[in-house]
Amino acid sequence: MFCHNNDGATSDCPLVAAYIIHYIGFHRHSLQRKIEEDGRKQIMKEFLCGIVHSKQKTASKKLNERLLHRVFGEQREGRNLLEDATWRSSRYLIGLDERPVFPAPEALARLSAFDESLPEDPQNPFETLALLDEIGSPATTASAGGRYFGFVIGGVLPVTLASNWLAGAWDQNAGLTAASPIAAKLEQVALRWLLDVFGLPPESGGGFVTGATMANFCGLAAARHAVLDQVGWNVETEGLFGAPPVTVIVGEEVHVSLLKALGMLGLGRERVIRVPADDQGRMRADALPGISGPTIVCIQAGNVNSGAFDPATGIIQIAHDAGAWVHVDGAFGLWAAATPALARLILGVSEADSWATDAHKWLNVPYDSGLVFCRRAADLRAALTHSPAAYLIEGAQHDPMEYTPEISRRARGIEIWAALRSLGRKGLAEMVERCCRHATRFAEELRAAGHEVLNDVHLNQVLVSFGDAEKTQRVIDAVQRDGTCWCGGTVWQGHAAMRISVSSWATTEADVERSVKAILRLASMF
Ligand SMILES: Cc1ncc(COP(=O)(O)O)c(C=O)c1O
Repeated sequence: MFCHNNDGATSDCPLVAAYIIHYIGFHRHSLQRKIEEDGRKQIMKEFLCGIVHSKQKTASKKLNERLLHRVFGEQREGRNLLEDATWRSSRYLIGLDERPVFPAPEALARLSAFDESLPEDPQNPFETLALLDEIGSPATTASAGGRYFGFVIGGVLPVTLASNWLAGAWDQNAGLTAASPIAAKLEQVALRWLLDVFGLPPESGGGFVTGATMANFCGLAAARHAVLDQVGWNVETEGLFGAPPVTVIVGEEVHVSLLKALGMLGLGRERVIRVPADDQGRMRADALPGISGPTIVCIQAGNVNSGAFDPATGIIQIAHDAGAWVHVDGAFGLWAAATPALARLILGVSEADSWATDAHKWLNVPYDSGLVFCRRAADLRAALTHSPAAYLIEGAQHDPMEYTPEISRRARGIEIWAALRSLGRKGLAEMVERCCRHATRFAEELRAAGHEVLNDVHLNQVLVSFGDAEKTQRVIDAVQRDGTCWCGGTVWQGHAAMRISVSSWATTEADVERSVKAILRLASMF
């Protein structure tokens, strides 16, 4: 049995299929035997017929075939469209290890194939999918693989991808319990588990949003509501026109997404008071200004460059004594709470009033998936709930849409639930610790080779300088061209640096070894 690679070559399918089974974590041995006996097509057919059988126990085989046709349309080369997508996706994931991490220039040039005009007539779905795979797949960055260290980008745990496929088939609108009881239920369960993992008050409210930018927006919307409510101003009904001024305090190293959120909330990107930071980028508690009146203090758990944490305990104490609200941007750093090994970093963070984090970063679920939590659920709800509308059937319990900006949205909580359930507390802690171990190894080996590591590596972020700004930039360009791994650049406290962010479940010791070797080889050329 043979299959086609992206480049058109053929390869031995049983071997490839065995890898798929291993990768996706199915029941490897029994299915592997089946593959050898019957081939992949037959298995998928049985699998799909099995689904139909369980729904239509008394239906005849012929009826099953008709049903399959109705659900999936025509078959091509013995496969229906979803089988074709499964096969193409699996082949893509298996191929990640062998391909350059950033797409080759030829692959990018071929993207012009998409520059067609809108077809007048319907096009064949198989051909549409084939175009997507054959031109699209080679033009992706291999961020689902083990050697992508750019920005802060997690991979996708197999169980979360599989759940994403199933939830996609369900096509649920997660905004209302009436529209999707299953989505609402799993988000409730996931929220309870997440509050437990992060050590946050169990009665906190939470929302499943697109990412940390929106999570920051929602947390700050709750903050804006609460601090103005304290002085008798209802910002949701009256807006900010004529409202008492709100002071916003941020650290010098605040993430740009938080400033953007402030801008979207009418609080101003530049109207903030910036508190100086130390050499790791941590806000200096001793440099906080005096606080009075409606005030929001924004701290950071995990600096996007250094991974450092603002000293939460001291800052929160001062802020709360003055009646201020404290919001935490913990886009990836909040996950340090998942392991006792990193507890010292996250100390005091749970005393804040609202928290933002991402699931698509360190929990390794598919994009897009961010989370907002709020100590007093009522503040989050007051900021984000809508005015009543007769057609929206609201249950006795609160609907998910009351804690997010959107009404309609995809059921992203399902993948979070699947990740947490399959990892368990131990698996989650192990994944976070493993990424940190890999980061430490990068730092040690690069330092041992004579390069300067600019940050204290306590988490998953490494900043390395290869000399002056020009040389460092040349090394970064060479690493990106080489394709063994992908790392971005930054300027850290006036010094050019290459950023290594280890955020993927898929990164192995071998990936680190291969990447370090490549970086050192390339750095030695300049
Ligand atoms: C500290 C911090 N906050 C916010 C964000 C924005 O996250 P997202 O891209 O999910 O909106 C990031 C992204 O890296 C981050 O590191």
